[in-house]
Amino acid sequence: MTTISQPAEFTLQRKHTADRSNAVRWITSHSIRYWPIILMIFIGGLGNAALAAVVPVLVGDVFNQMLKPDPDTSILIPLALVLGGSQIVRGVLQLGRNFGAELMAQKIERDIRDELYVSLLGKSMTFHNLQPVGDTMARATNDVREVNFMFSPGINLVVGSFMFLVMPFFFAPQYHISLLLAPTLFTISYFIALWHYLRALSPITDEVRATFGEMNTHLSEALDGVEIMKGAAQEGAEIERFVTNARRVRDAFVRQGDLEARFLPNLLLGITYAIGLVHALLLFRDGLLNTGGVVAYFGLLRMLDFPTFASTFAYTQISLGLSGARRILELINQETNLDQNAAGYTGVMRGEIEFRNMSFEYNNGESVLENVSFKVKPGQTVAIVGQTGAGKTSLVKLINRTYDVTGGQVLVDGIDVREWNLASLRSQISMIEQDIFLFSRSISENIAFGKPGAGQREVEAAAAAAQAHEFIQSFDEGYQTVIGERGVTLSGGQRQRLALSRAFLTDPHILILDDSTSAIDSATEDKIQRAVANAARGRTTFLITHRLSQIRWADLIVVLRKGRIAAIGTHEGLMKTSEAYARIFRE
Ligand code: CTP
Ligand code: MG
Repeated sequence: MTTISQPAEFTLQRKHTADRSNAVRWITSHSIRYWPIILMIFIGGLGNAALAAVVPVLVGDVFNQMLKPDPDTSILIPLALVLGGSQIVRGVLQLGRNFGAELMAQKIERDIRDELYVSLLGKSMTFHNLQPVGDTMARATNDVREVNFMFSPGINLVVGSFMFLVMPFFFAPQYHISLLLAPTLFTISYFIALWHYLRALSPITDEVRATFGEMNTHLSEALDGVEIMKGAAQEGAEIERFVTNARRVRDAFVRQGDLEARFLPNLLLGITYAIGLVHALLLFRDGLLNTGGVVAYFGLLRMLDFPTFASTFAYTQISLGLSGARRILELINQETNLDQNAAGYTGVMRGEIEFRNMSFEYNNGESVLENVSFKVKPGQTVAIVGQTGAGKTSLVKLINRTYDVTGGQVLVDGIDVREWNLASLRSQISMIEQDIFLFSRSISENIAFGKPGAGQREVEAAAAAAQAHEFIQSFDEGYQTVIGERGVTLSGGQRQRLALSRAFLTDPHILILDDSTSAIDSATEDKIQRAVANAARGRTTFLITHRLSQIRWADLIVVLRKGRIAAIGTHEGLMKTSEAYARIFRE
């Protein structure tokens, strides 16, 4: 089995590796490991069909007995017993087939869901910035579900009904060899029709899945931005847009239904019945077939029912499943340009940082940072100031390799960050982002996020150092208070102190604080001020802030303007030399 290795930020060790070269191979490589279940489905399907064929055969025998001038009725009881017994066995086999298929479907669903999740977590921020969350959600939920349905009922019915298709070929020749004619004609035209059907179906199911993904993307964005939307009184326009998207999904489904309705084998089945019956009656007239034979043969032809009726449904399911698999695989196979560099440097960080002639741009090709060079000694506090859009956030995100530089170097302890083992690098750097993200879990869990398993006492100590203990205590449930959707919402200042608690707990060698909140009452301001001063002690700290009090006592101040360093130095130095800096303080 070929395995295509992906450069990923992080990969977890999996026991099973799948072939990701295309959707069919991918699904096959996932299913092949469950071969005992596949065997069970096949045996169950074959046995079920064979025992179903026993019914018309026995009924034919009964007819022949009854039509004799002096019928031997004693044979009817054993025939009836065989008939009944065989159908009980058949029921068991059918159960095996259905159970096997369902089991398989659930196992595969779990496997690919795991694989997708691991792969999503491993992808770089460049990927996540460009990939709409709603679309990812649609793929991770509905497309994964379609793959499940592809096995049960999809493949289950295909296997089961295929076995029914085969049975007339085994049982009809015993009555007269030429009776193979009708099943043969049917089977040939069935497969031709099926081939055409599947070819027409594939783009339609692709479209069904794609329009659904688009609708979901839009829905999730509308809900995310619902506050802005309401604020701008744009509900009407949003509804309009949603209706358009929903209509596209409907249209795709209608096209699928239209194609299903035109499925030719439905017609072929009727024709086959007619041909088969005429054929059998001709043989009967010529004395080549008895009454029981005609009855049995027609009963066998009736078995073609199952493949005909199951196939529209089952093959659509398989087609949808493959479309879904293709979309999941597309996501998994997206290249990520960060490499976790497992073999990289893993030392304990001293906290020296150097930007060396560094430049950076996002995917859109517009230069964000240019020619940035400066050096920070271990333990220093650096303040980065500059107007909005100057590139402050971008600059600090290069330190922990949220993004990679496009030119020059960023060095930590004299080692290019790309030479570091990514996990080691990141675990020693703590970044408090501009928009602080809190999980809808308890406050305690949120603080302990970077250090799972931290004890309650540790958590509280960290919260105290971050000046957060007091407000946490004021909630009824204290540290167990659930944040977000189902719980309390926190103010900007509170969020920030929770994030600082996180940082205290992980005790990083480099702390980065991207602080956008400037309008905070002076009491809180004071608390944050103290928390930050605590946090900066004993580690290299980057502060992006508008708070003059914080900027003032930094060891180094970097003034960014349009992606370039406009001035650099200490507060005293810059006040004298930099007009731009002095202006910030005058305002
Ligand atoms: N940018 C981008 N893609 C991103 C983030 C930012 O193209 N994913 C661009 C922005 O449009 C901006 C530039 O990069 O022109 C710098 O952005 P940023 O570093 O976020 O600026 P900050 O100085 O942090 O601005 P603010 O004070 O508003 O946070
Ligand atoms: Mg910013």
